[in-house]
Amino acid sequence: MRRFFVFVLVAALWLSVPPAIASSERLEVQSWSWQGMFGRYDKAQLRRGFQVYSEVCANCHGLRLVAYRNLADVGLTDEEIKRIAAEKEVQDGPNEQGEMFTRFARPSDRFVSPYANDQAARVANHGALPPDLSLMAKARAGGPDYLYSLLTGYEDPPSGVLLTPGMNYNKVFPGHQIAMPQPLFEDMVTYDDSTSASLPQMAQDVTAFLNWTAEPELDGRHALGLKTLAFLVLLTGLLYALKRQIWSGVHGE
Ligand code: HEC
Repeated sequence: MRRFFVFVLVAALWLSVPPAIASSERLEVQSWSWQGMFGRYDKAQLRRGFQVYSEVCANCHGLRLVAYRNLADVGLTDEEIKRIAAEKEVQDGPNEQGEMFTRFARPSDRFVSPYANDQAARVANHGALPPDLSLMAKARAGGPDYLYSLLTGYEDPPSGVLLTPGMNYNKVFPGHQIAMPQPLFEDMVTYDDSTSASLPQMAQDVTAFLNWTAEPELDGRHALGLKTLAFLVLLTGLLYALKRQIWSGVHGE
């Protein structure tokens, strides 16, 4: 009888899994370095991902929640960060004359967006707005697996599917028609660390970088989690020893 109830319970739980999970089965699930309790970002990978972002994605997508100085986490030196920031101009002011002025960006500035405003971004992209990518790894079901699958999911449309002009076929994008043209192609970037820039490699690297922009505190959180666990194990040991000592007189009676 009890087995029967357990069976019913398991079956009910299984059936109650929302269809969203079933439909995400098409995603190409990857194993990411930061997953699990001991997971950490791979700095070399984040650096490569930043390179892909800046050479490819940054032409259309901003990262308005990230400041240049945050790139220190990715392993860039202060000099590199200063140089990267100074390639962009930002508006500042007003100065003593009450006028706004432009100056080169500083490490404390946030990433400068590729377009002056959303309208300009739409005009350049057939009316579609390239979304800001700062939190994108958290904003879609499937998170990093979705980003990876999207970047590697461009295909010729199956026969019978008519694309709206200016749209591209992508097997994981909802509705399969996306305004973003395929952004990554084999060997599009040249990595400093001589990793070969295959499409899956670049897609993984830029996804890792975008996971870091969405969750930069992950490494610290995992480290704190491990310390807390170690502390709890120690505390359990101490309490056990204490309990034995307190009760030691009672056992002999
Ligand atoms: C030529 C401009 C362009 C480039 C380059 C580009 N994108 Fe896009 N991207 C777009 C546009 C436009 C959209 C909006 C698509 C839509 O809504 O149909 C978009 C949408 C997206 C989305 C959101 C998809 C969704 O589920 O809504 C992600 C994620 C994304 N891009 C990632 C990237 C990454 C990563 C790169 C670099 C490897 C990149 N893009 C390069 C133009 C671009």
